[in-house]
Amino acid sequence: MNTKILKINPEKIDLNKIKLAAEEIKKGNLVAFPTETVYGLGADAYNKEAVAKIFKVKGRPFNDPLIVHIAEIEELHRLSKRVPAMALQLAKTFWPGPLTLVLKKSELVSDIITASLDTVAVRMPDDNIALNLIRIAQTPIVAPSANLFGRPSPTNAQHVEDDLGGKIEMIIDGGKTRVGVESTVLDVTVKPVQVLRAGGVSVEQLMKVTGKAKVSKELERGFRSPGRLNSHYSPQARLILVEEKGDVQVEEVRRLASKYKAQGLKVGIMAKEENQNKYNGFEVKVIGKGTELEICAANLFSTLRSFDKERFEIIIAEGLEEHDLGLAIMERLRKAAVPK
Ligand code: TXA
Ligand code: MG
Repeated sequence: MNTKILKINPEKIDLNKIKLAAEEIKKGNLVAFPTETVYGLGADAYNKEAVAKIFKVKGRPFNDPLIVHIAEIEELHRLSKRVPAMALQLAKTFWPGPLTLVLKKSELVSDIITASLDTVAVRMPDDNIALNLIRIAQTPIVAPSANLFGRPSPTNAQHVEDDLGGKIEMIIDGGKTRVGVESTVLDVTVKPVQVLRAGGVSVEQLMKVTGKAKVSKELERGFRSPGRLNSHYSPQARLILVEEKGDVQVEEVRRLASKYKAQGLKVGIMAKEENQNKYNGFEVKVIGKGTELEICAANLFSTLRSFDKERFEIIIAEGLEEHDLGLAIMERLRKAAVPK
């Protein structure tokens, strides 16, 4: 298949181009598109055959449910007949934005989307290309991250092409995504509401709306988010995460890097900007300043992918502070560090 690349300037959106993409969605084809978090691989939520293609193209198991993307809040009430007041308040606060709400599903939502669960995950992306695409296609759009299953999520159109070029109808190139990590997945069917995946809206931000005691941080509970496998977001290189702090961390990174280099392996270090000069003699890529977690999040996946492009065999990654977006970053690094 010849994958069409449609370049759209997000500052000056050409609606005629969006129409072309919307036509593909209406035909039951797959279109990758930017959101504020990562690129999504979109299909018409009300077309089961189209949704099935997503699993095939990504190599994703059918027990991993998909997020439904909407452009108007009314659509939420069609997808779920039971929207708790708290959920509505969260939606009104954070949408459009990187928060996904897990709610009881309505009969309109097919089992293939939800992996036969009785819940559905819904979000409204904060990206005008995505919102226009949903509006012009006149249907909610299901979209997982537009990467091959298990790989780091794509934060630009080139990443999508690297993984899915030749396998899908169209990629909308709207430049680099702003947030860089996926949405926070929040189960609002339970009390207290529970974070199933840390992401672009921090737990600290959620608690400002719900109150402190009202968010459970027990992340990645296998039985709630059935598709959350252990090894995920992984570069091809083996990733070793060094979670120690301060000088001890730098020492441990140096020790590991030296050890693998001595074995003749191509070793790279993913470091905070303030530490980059502490690794003389090694190849270092900077994720950002340790204090600027939003920037680190925006750079995370593209840095991991760039190690792969240069065929590194081992990545030694410095851990970051685990608050605000640092929680989402560390969750992803821990999964990337699980041996395949
Ligand atoms: O930022 C994002 O969320 C991106 C962009 C494209 O919107 N999408 C994304 O989708 O990351 P995906 O498929 O890569 O991850 C969806 C996550 C999975 O962890 C899945 O298990 C969880 O959402 N999920 C979906 N439906 C669920 C449900 N009904 N109950 C629990 N977890 C659910
Ligand atoms: Mg994904």
